[in-house]
Amino acid sequence: MKRKLKWLKWIFAGLVAGFALLQFTNPPRTNPPVAPGHDLMATNPPPPEIATLLHSACYDCHSDETRWPWYSHIAPVSWLVAGDVTRGRERLNFSDWPRALPERAAKRLERISEEVDYQDMPPAKYTLLHPEARLTAGQRQQLMHWADQEAARLKPATTNE
Ligand code: HEC
Repeated sequence: MKRKLKWLKWIFAGLVAGFALLQFTNPPRTNPPVAPGHDLMATNPPPPEIATLLHSACYDCHSDETRWPWYSHIAPVSWLVAGDVTRGRERLNFSDWPRALPERAAKRLERISEEVDYQDMPPAKYTLLHPEARLTAGQRQQLMHWADQEAARLKPATTNE
């Protein structure tokens, strides 16, 4: 019995040490500076209520203005959070909006409308921990309506050349 307890103590100490060592593997949490005039809010400013929705539901993963939560400092959760932000920024970065390329901007807006329509975005694992990012059916409609309208407005700018 005593012997078993001793082993348990060692196993526990090993786990604690392993967890402590893991903390040296935390990925960097970057927020690159946003070049003035490059953000969606500067180039295609949406109405204030849309801006608020995008900021609360999308900007953590799709901009360079991520609000890193406390658990993003603790491995192994930090890897998951940083991975989402890196992949999110790669696919769509509101801080680096294609302002000089209206056709590309229109495509992004169409993709945004689709993802919001399919309820793929914001991801469920995110809204679980960020209840303020949950979108009501009405808010989804608002977002889609804005994205569709903006896409339509930007498109002729390239096809009428
Ligand atoms: C938790 C982080 C996170 C949040 C919050 C989030 N996304 Fe995403 N988004 C991702 C990731 C990661 C991808 C890449 C695809 C994948 O791995 O699922 C993605 C992909 C996308 C794409 C596809 C881009 C493309 O064409 O390849 C769109 C559009 C998108 N998100 C829009 C949104 C919108 C709009 C919101 C807010 C309503 C939002 N996302 C919120 C992480 C996020």
